[in-house]
Amino acid sequence: MKAKNILIFGASGQIGRHLIRKLTKSNYEVTAVTRNLHQKAYFLKTQANAGYLNVVEANIFDDEKIKNLVSKNEIVINLIGILNESSANTFQSLHNIFPSYISKICKDFNIHQFIHLSALGIDQSSESEYAKSKLKGEINIKKNFTEATILRPSVVYSVDDNFTTSFMTLLNRLPIFPLYYNGKTKFMPIHCSDLTEIIYQVILKKIKSNTIECIGPETISLKNILERLLNLIDKKRILIPMPLFLAKISAAVLQMFPNPILTIDQINLLKYDNVSSGKYKTNFDINIPSVHKFDLEVSKYCYMWKESGQFSRKKYDL
Ligand SMILES: NC(=O)c1ccc[n+]([C@@H]2O[C@H](COP(=O)([O-])OP(=O)(O)OC[C@H]3O[C@@H](n4cnc5c(N)ncnc54)[C@H](OP(=O)(O)O)[C@@H]3O)[C@@H](O)[C@H]2O)c1
Repeated sequence: MKAKNILIFGASGQIGRHLIRKLTKSNYEVTAVTRNLHQKAYFLKTQANAGYLNVVEANIFDDEKIKNLVSKNEIVINLIGILNESSANTFQSLHNIFPSYISKICKDFNIHQFIHLSALGIDQSSESEYAKSKLKGEINIKKNFTEATILRPSVVYSVDDNFTTSFMTLLNRLPIFPLYYNGKTKFMPIHCSDLTEIIYQVILKKIKSNTIECIGPETISLKNILERLLNLIDKKRILIPMPLFLAKISAAVLQMFPNPILTIDQINLLKYDNVSSGKYKTNFDINIPSVHKFDLEVSKYCYMWKESGQFSRKKYDL
């Protein structure tokens, strides 16, 4: 029997929204869990064809409610994650305690597939609390539900991201842009639709008991990413290497603000390349290659950061 009902935690984020579109278009019935129905349901509802999406408000540690939701589904996907922690939302509770808890419930309810989004490069980033909590979460999931599939994406980009869009906003406003670790950290950015294709294929091909590194087709240094973005938005900026101690001092100040653009933990994370490890299979190895190229995809939405918007070049060329 084809599994039809899918429960998604963290569905309102960048990856979740793309995934809802992909799954509901393919006739899966999705239940999206959010903490705030009023804020999130109105845009989540527009992602799916009518009748294929339920949006449910829940505290993810409400045992009775979560068990009830899991019991009605065949597949569970966990996309919950944070980059900055606060006293209420800690890395430990969201990246370790919740994944451990939900994987155990999935086992108890005999769920067909449990898919968990972790992150690339977490084995080596021992100085980052983000990476340590993600790694602990993975270890506990594997203990609780051996058939779980863990996906480890490199940085994910799309028009809905907090990565290219935030960089373009900052590059637009700042005359000088700091380079941490001389901008040498390497990434294999993956377009969100390539990542959702991987999740879709994992479901379709019933891939279980696997850790898969999800990477894009290009390896790009942080400096080169910034240069490409500057080129795409037609801006010239000075990119200057920032000494580590100064980077940490500025991050210590910035992380005192709500939704900080930089934290010390992120500086620690940037120390290591975010590329495939060779230890696990990648999406290319299992025949689900990423096809979207960085410059071409970003060129489709970067006009919002150009001087006069989408038609600026045409206007000046007249
Ligand atoms: N984006 C990337 O570049 C990237 C790279 C590597 C790994 N990942 C991982 O992929 C997953 C999805 O990433 P994303 O970019 O889609 O994330 P996102 O856009 O930041 O969305 C995160 C989701 O987590 C939920 N969430 C946050 N705090 C929560 C809490 N206290 N309780 C319950 N839910 C909470 C939010 O749901 P509500 O606000 O609706 O409750 C939101 O839908 C995460 O695990 C992330 O670590 C992402």
